[in-house]
Amino acid sequence: MSPRHQRSPSMTAQPMSYPFARDDMLEPAAEFSRLRVERPVVPVELPTGGNAWLLTRYEDVRQVLGDPRFARGFGGPQPGGFASFLGYLAVFAAPEAQARFRRVAGKALLDCADQMRPAVSRLVDEALSELAAAGPPADLVGLVQLPVSIGVICELIGVPHEYQHTFRSWADTFLSISPAAMDQEKAVAAQADMDRYVRGLLAERAAAPGDDYLSTLLTTPDVDGVRMSEEEVIATTYALLVSGYQTVAHSLGKGMLALFRNPEQLAALRADPQLAGSAVEEFLRFAPPDAGFGMPLHATTDLEVAGVPIAAGESVLVGVWSANRDEETFPKAHHFDVARRPNQHLSFGIGIRYCTGAALARLQMELVLTRLLERFPRLALAVPAEQVEASSGMVVEGPKQLPVTW
Ligand code: HEM
Repeated sequence: MSPRHQRSPSMTAQPMSYPFARDDMLEPAAEFSRLRVERPVVPVELPTGGNAWLLTRYEDVRQVLGDPRFARGFGGPQPGGFASFLGYLAVFAAPEAQARFRRVAGKALLDCADQMRPAVSRLVDEALSELAAAGPPADLVGLVQLPVSIGVICELIGVPHEYQHTFRSWADTFLSISPAAMDQEKAVAAQADMDRYVRGLLAERAAAPGDDYLSTLLTTPDVDGVRMSEEEVIATTYALLVSGYQTVAHSLGKGMLALFRNPEQLAALRADPQLAGSAVEEFLRFAPPDAGFGMPLHATTDLEVAGVPIAAGESVLVGVWSANRDEETFPKAHHFDVARRPNQHLSFGIGIRYCTGAALARLQMELVLTRLLERFPRLALAVPAEQVEASSGMVVEGPKQLPVTW
């Protein structure tokens, strides 16, 4: 059946069961390659029992991600309950609330990357000293990737150095939520502690604003002259944690694993450190930090994607992993190439859904990569690559540990 004649997901007799099985954290599901050629807009059944359209081609994913006729939509803040902060996350907010978030908090985040360079640089050097003191062998994930990325968020919101360890333990508990009742209780307690702490920081900034990120959020008026409320600023700190902590750490972890699995690429990078920038882009293209499921969007009006009619209200999943490996856009797409240019991957989204933390993420990844290879010129994996296990995250994933030697 040609894509033009596919039917709406709700009307299709046998949608494919999704997500597809994967057995390698650096590889997309095998089905994507076939679907890109044979059925680029395909109905799938989700674990919840609902249906969605899955898009697998670069051009379609790019078009839909940037199309304002698609919404994420929980529809805005939802008071009460442990998960209430989700309602405040910009990506789930109603379009006007998201636009407001982007104008103030997003812009401040984009603007601060340069200003953050000395702090990020210091965090990277400290983490590498911890690594040196702990090994060899020592774990790159626990000693470098996670401390640097949580450290950057702490610096952003003004958590003092001596308190960053406590903040990380709250964040780890709060983000590792699982169905177990015990974990729920711990997560709720961690969130309450964090909430109290962040409100304290906010009160200090409100009394004496500086030129830091939280003060900027509190004092910058939107186009209508209205400033962000305390609740919105609190929600923003959660947005930073959820969006910017494990994502960066896992992108680095997957990228480092790809380097260790492709020694000729590691050698090329060592021979020419100027390749660090393009290597980071290749880390992001080749193995994005998300676990490959994708966040559903829904059509707000009847429309077509690649000739397939999609009705208002129907859900669409954009296959970013698949798009990043589309041979039509990326020559030798399954080859990991640290010198790849151009590299217009979609791991940071695009247009109205472009990651406002992208500059900060790139800065951290590039500094970690450059300094790591400078300081440990003989860095190597301390265990066989096939023994590296993936973390069991639902949304983002990466190596649980990366034991390295030098
Ligand atoms: C490698 C690391 C990262 C990746 C791959 C990534 C990816 C993304 C993507 C794909 C989106 C768009 C979500 C959507 O489709 O609506 C997004 C949004 C966002 N990201 Fe990132 N991100 C990363 C790091 C960061 C960092 C370090 C921060 C902040 C410290 C951050 C903050 C945000 C925020 C606040 C949003 C919401 C923007 C909005 O709704 O307009 N991200 N990110």
